[in-house]
Amino acid sequence: MPANPVFLTTAIEAVVRAGDVQMAQFGQVIRVDKKGAIDLVTEVDLAVEREFRELIAGRFPDHHVLAEEMGGSAAVPAGPCWVFDPIDGTTNYAHGLPIFCSSLALEIDGVPEVAAVYDPTRRELFTAERGAGAFLNGQPLRVSQADQLIDAMLVTGFPYDVHARVNEIVGLFGAFVAHARAVRRLGSAALDLCYVAAGRMDGFWESDLKAWDIAGGALIVAEAGGRVTGTDGSAFASRGGHVLASNGRLHDAMLAVIRAFRTSMGVTP
Ligand code: IPD
Ligand code: CA
Ligand code: CA
Repeated sequence: MPANPVFLTTAIEAVVRAGDVQMAQFGQVIRVDKKGAIDLVTEVDLAVEREFRELIAGRFPDHHVLAEEMGGSAAVPAGPCWVFDPIDGTTNYAHGLPIFCSSLALEIDGVPEVAAVYDPTRRELFTAERGAGAFLNGQPLRVSQADQLIDAMLVTGFPYDVHARVNEIVGLFGAFVAHARAVRRLGSAALDLCYVAAGRMDGFWESDLKAWDIAGGALIVAEAGGRVTGTDGSAFASRGGHVLASNGRLHDAMLAVIRAFRTSMGVTP
């Protein structure tokens, strides 16, 4: 059964409002705090999340919210749960680099039903509903056709504990560089996933992610005809922390690169 249409309109309203707040302060001097050595939070992350929570509480007071800055239930709750990243790409945002977005998914009993990701600098709104396809500004999205890694442009991201695992993270990056046409690191996992959905990228992998980074983008990739799993090929779980998303055709080849690299590192896949 299709989800209540109010869910998608609310999701779109929420991410577009988030984009308005982001753009109002983008490039200005804002307060930036450190959650870790390289993990930032700006006053805009907090303002966007506050406004989002007010919107959902006003409209759906019995729904759960899981969002980056103020938390929520780590386990999958029963019923509807909005999974929100107020700024995905906070480091870019804090440096004035216009590659960021807000990312939202509505999960019902853990199943993703609706997703919306909005990039306000390009005015690109990515949306999806389970079983109803994925769209960019209302136009249907389809993943790419590339079926060889040597013809593929891939994208990844580095987790905030990268300093403790440089060899592993950069080593796997290098393994993909050795096989692909190109590998990028943009700084927004949600946009990385949307770009796979749009066929701009052919595949994306990353570990140590949170549900708010990937819940929305994963549904958008799947609805654009792509494949989404864990980096070990396991069934995708938004709270699973790792993701491999591709146009489908490249999935097994990407899994093989990851497995070979992990074996060479002596890490159990
Ligand atoms: C980060 C971005 C980045 C990814 C990190 C995420 P944030 O989210 O998505 O691309 O590499 O792992 O934590 O902190 O900008 O919301
Ligand atoms: Ca994020
Ligand atoms: Ca964030």
